[in-house]
Amino acid sequence: MDIKNIIDKKALGKKLTKQEINYFIEGYLNGTITDYQASALLMAIRINGMTENETFALTGAMLNSGIKMDFSDLGLIVDKHSTGGVSDTTTITLVPICMACGVKMFKMSGRGLGHTGGTIDKLESFTGFKADIDIEKAKELVRKNGGCIISATKNLAPADKKIYALRDTTATVESIPLIASSIMSKKLAGGANKIVLDVKYGNGAIIKAKKDAIYLAKLMVKIGENAGAKMDYIIDDMNEPLGYNIGNKLEAYEAIEVLSGKQGKLTNTTLKLAGKCISLGLNIPYEDAVQMAKDAIKSGKALSALKTIVKAQGGSTALFNGLTLKPKLVVTSPFSGTLQKIECARLGSLVGQLGANRQKVTDEIDYNVGVKTFHKLGDKINVGDVLFEIYAKTKAQANEFANEFLDCYKVY
Ligand code: URA
Ligand code: CA
Repeated sequence: MDIKNIIDKKALGKKLTKQEINYFIEGYLNGTITDYQASALLMAIRINGMTENETFALTGAMLNSGIKMDFSDLGLIVDKHSTGGVSDTTTITLVPICMACGVKMFKMSGRGLGHTGGTIDKLESFTGFKADIDIEKAKELVRKNGGCIISATKNLAPADKKIYALRDTTATVESIPLIASSIMSKKLAGGANKIVLDVKYGNGAIIKAKKDAIYLAKLMVKIGENAGAKMDYIIDDMNEPLGYNIGNKLEAYEAIEVLSGKQGKLTNTTLKLAGKCISLGLNIPYEDAVQMAKDAIKSGKALSALKTIVKAQGGSTALFNGLTLKPKLVVTSPFSGTLQKIECARLGSLVGQLGANRQKVTDEIDYNVGVKTFHKLGDKINVGDVLFEIYAKTKAQANEFANEFLDCYKVY
């Protein structure tokens, strides 16, 4: 086989065979295929797409490039994956709800980069929280408490890791077959046999159009089912932040508020996901599962399950007694009208620039910075209404960012 012929075939819009796809993945991982050859093939895929069978083959090749975890000794495990959003704390609200309802979760999450925050960074704002836990110890936590949230191990789908880094620098992220195979190779390597997908669309998501999000969700469902997993999904609007808070400790605190009964979009999305996970996990109808999730919040069992996770992984529970952070600046509205549009990705990226997120993998982050918002799309706003509380490193930094935050809101 020759990589040049494979690139040429895809450039002409032809289908690749499973053998050709395996040859590409093996060769790229072992270095016989170069970055520039892989980039050319990825761009041809971005432009010409892939059939379902090609996408299944690509997923399988990346999945087989690393270890496959096995949780059969723990019984059934349900997993959830979000394609990423702003103020999306649903892992931290969902896992405890599922635990409280008797559905085991072995959740592996990532750190933040760019405009979306990472679940692990948010959890580490519970001082002392440890996410780099080895698999055997994490299994103990699942046996004892019913769940854990740990950092993803580095050995899952290493081919995806190498390819994703290349895609990030070659404008080849936005390809539905590449996204679907990237996500599903990691999920399937992660050992879950029941998976719920949270696919986001809108200006704060990688996928902009709702119809593309639905297509991606259905494709990932087919990939999972083809590999023998039970699958379900939700489609979620990311044209505005999901919760009100953006920033690590602020978001961890909002998760506590949701589990204490606070209402809103973050709660609604959490309940939808919980409904799907509990329904798959316990084999019960979706509506009954949603009711169980609501009851777990009302009884306080879900909140206490979050406390259990935090304590079991070495974190301080001080945040459960209240948020002691104070904003450096309160920004009020200079305009009146209706909140028509929010530049959601920009909002997330500004919070990242305050120091909440890494711009490079090696950067240190600041758990205490962020922004608290007070409005959702369609809200009426008057001159003088509070729009943002800015939790910056200094008053000067807050002042420097104030106009940029205001600019993310289109009010007319
Ligand atoms: N998340 C992933 O893991 N892979 C993609 O390709 C896009 C989002
Ligand atoms: Ca108002």
